Amino acid sequence: MPLVHDDLLLRSPDPDQTRALAAAVASVLTPGDVVALSGELGAGKTCFVQGAARRLGVEGPVTSPTFMLVRTYLDAPVPVVHCDVYRLNRLQDVLDLGEDVLAPDVVTFVEWGDAVATLLPDDRLEVELTLVDAGDVASGAGRQDSETERLVRLRPRGPAWRDRAGALADACAPWREEP
Ligand SMILES: Nc1ncnc2c1ncn2[C@@H]1O[C@H](COP(=O)(O)OP(=O)(O)O)[C@@H](O)[C@H]1O
Ligand SMILES: [Mg+2]
Repeated sequence: MPLVHDDLLLRSPDPDQTRALAAAVASVLTPGDVVALSGELGAGKTCFVQGAARRLGVEGPVTSPTFMLVRTYLDAPVPVVHCDVYRLNRLQDVLDLGEDVLAPDVVTFVEWGDAVATLLPDDRLEVELTLVDAGDVASGAGRQDSETERLVRLRPRGPAWRDRAGALADACAPWREEP
C-alpha cells in the first residue's frame, strides 16, 4: 500500500492565481521530484507548470509540449523537464521521450490522463485540476478560455514527501479551500 499523505484542496479564481499557487508549490520542490498533473484538456495543467517552472528559475516562455511530448529546460537553476503524455499509455513510451525524463537531477512535470497511473514512481506529487463549474465544460471549448475557478487537489505520495507535507501545506495556505 503506497504511502499517501493528506490531500490539500486549493481554489484558484484565474490563471494568474493558478500560476501563483504553482510557484508556491515549487518552493518545496527539489531535483528528482516528479509532479503528475491530471485533469481534462483546458483544466490548467500547462498553466500550473508555467508558474512552477518560473519559480524554479526557468526563463522565457514555457509552452505546452502537447505536440512535442517533451520540453526540457536544463539550463535553469533547478533543471525542469515538462512532458505531456496525455495520449501515451505505456511506461516505455514515457521513457522513450529521453533520458532526462524522471532523471534524479531534474524536476519532472508530467501532464497525463488518469489511465496511466501506474507509470510513475511512487514518490510523486499528484496535482489534479478541475473546473468548478464542470457542467459547462462539455458545452463548448471556447468556454475554457474564460477565467473561471479551478479546484486544485494536491496529493503528495511516498516517503519523499513525508517530511515535506507540512511545508507544502504552509506554502499553499493562501489558496486553501478548507481551514
Ligand atoms: N483558474 C484558472 N486556472 C488556470 N487556467 C485557467 C483558469 N481560468 C481560465 N483558465 C484558462 O484555461 C486554459 C488552461 O489551459 P492549459 O493550462 O493549457 O490547460 P491543460 O494543460 O490542462 O490542457 C487557459 O486558456 C487559461 O487561460
Ligand atoms: Mg497542457
